[in-house]
Amino acid sequence: SAPARAEWTGQFGFIISAIGSAVGLGNIWRFPGVAYENGGGAFLIPYIVALLTAGIPILFLDYAIGHRFRGSAPLALRRLAGKLGEGIGWFQVMICVFIAIYYTAVLAWASSYFVFSFDLKWGEDAAQYFTGEYLQLADAPFTLDFVPAVLVPLILMWIVALVVLGAGVVKGVQRLNMIAIPLLVAGFLVLVVRALFLPGAADGLNALFTPDFAALADPSVWVAAYSQIFFSLSVAFGIMMTYSSYRRRRSNMTAPGLVVAFGNSSFEILAGVGVFATLGFFAHQQGVAVADLEGLKGVGLAFMTFPAIATQMPGGEIFGALFFGALTLAGLTSMISIMEVILAGVMDKFGLTRKRAVYGIGGVLAVISVVLFGTSSGLTALDTIDNWANNIGIVASAVVMTITVLWIRRAGRELSGHLSVLSTFKVGRVWLFCVSVLGPVVLGYMLIVTVIDLVREPFSGYDGGYLLIVGWGSIALMIIGSVVLTLSPWRYNPDRFTPWPA
Ligand code: PHE
Ligand code: NA
Repeated sequence: SAPARAEWTGQFGFIISAIGSAVGLGNIWRFPGVAYENGGGAFLIPYIVALLTAGIPILFLDYAIGHRFRGSAPLALRRLAGKLGEGIGWFQVMICVFIAIYYTAVLAWASSYFVFSFDLKWGEDAAQYFTGEYLQLADAPFTLDFVPAVLVPLILMWIVALVVLGAGVVKGVQRLNMIAIPLLVAGFLVLVVRALFLPGAADGLNALFTPDFAALADPSVWVAAYSQIFFSLSVAFGIMMTYSSYRRRRSNMTAPGLVVAFGNSSFEILAGVGVFATLGFFAHQQGVAVADLEGLKGVGLAFMTFPAIATQMPGGEIFGALFFGALTLAGLTSMISIMEVILAGVMDKFGLTRKRAVYGIGGVLAVISVVLFGTSSGLTALDTIDNWANNIGIVASAVVMTITVLWIRRAGRELSGHLSVLSTFKVGRVWLFCVSVLGPVVLGYMLIVTVIDLVREPFSGYDGGYLLIVGWGSIALMIIGSVVLTLSPWRYNPDRFTPWPA
């Protein structure tokens, strides 16, 4: 029969690893800009509504499935909902495959910039340095010329990730998180406090938090809030399911869930304060209003705007190092969680040992990632795949999963019972309503709106044929991959299993 499953050493190991996954690039470079663009202080209302009605309920759903059926996404969902469930699980694994390949590239850039910070290597024109000198971005999207400055840190990040994963759930993943997360929080707090003392910081905070209540009437603001919460909590990616399958059988599930959810949101608000205080300083230096600044989000914020700001600041070297150090740690712990979904899936299905899975499957993904992103074709493919994986793949996965589990398999009571039996915070009808009715309706609406938008207007102004291949092609590959994996035979019988409590 199947080998025994790894277990976190305790509640703390589970919580800190789940926080390590949740707190990532999304908190630092995505949230502040999204909040600013969608009503500023007023955005907190849809954000909190989304957290309470979808984020936390679906987080609990992931926990309940992974913990009750003790498996990676494909195994747990197979035990719960048969072949269809298994297919959904593999689809989540496939999303993680695509994300892992580009996420590591961003991680590599962040680690390069950590090193560059010490002598502000990007010089006077940080934007030009990033795309021109560092990435050597080609005009044509399909050139494969290696860029050594990216290649070396990229290989390094893959080695670090695979070594940690190879060391196992407790000795690798949990240990890394126990070191990285306290370091990340401490370093980031120093950065935020420093930012608050910069001239102009108050203007930045006013720009972020001044509420524009009229924005609340705009449905796209609500869509933005739900998608931020979703991405930020890493729900419906198979991650929380995989991590909770390593949780001891008799344990409280909802209390750690609340800690993770509120911890993640607190870090997000903290990042908003830090980022906008810094942007306020930048606007002040240039004698413009914060509203007139550009590059407030994503790759532009992190690799163009922030380096430019560090150059203008006394002690900018330390400031830069703290920022890019935080980005690297936050990204690394999330990256590890994405890879664990993939590895756990293949270990469960094919009975591979961890070492074989890590160095075999992990090695293949590393090579693909290095070939694609160690070259000058990088950026175009990255944001295209990112958009399709997150805005189509993950939302579709959540809709199909909730409908399958709660409407087809009708497992609502079983799962709420499982969540409540040993938990201090019990769930009941309200939770069931959120995951089975509200969730699928809101997410289904989001999915339709996104698809219509993408069909009407080419994403980022890219060529339509390119988007068809790279964007929709990725989704097609995810579906094909999950069908093939679902149809291949199991090493151990997945269905010989009785959930606890019997
Ligand atoms: N939750 C992470 C963040 O906020 C992102 C992430 C997405 C991590 C998917 C893992 C998987 O950045
Ligand atoms: Na997050």
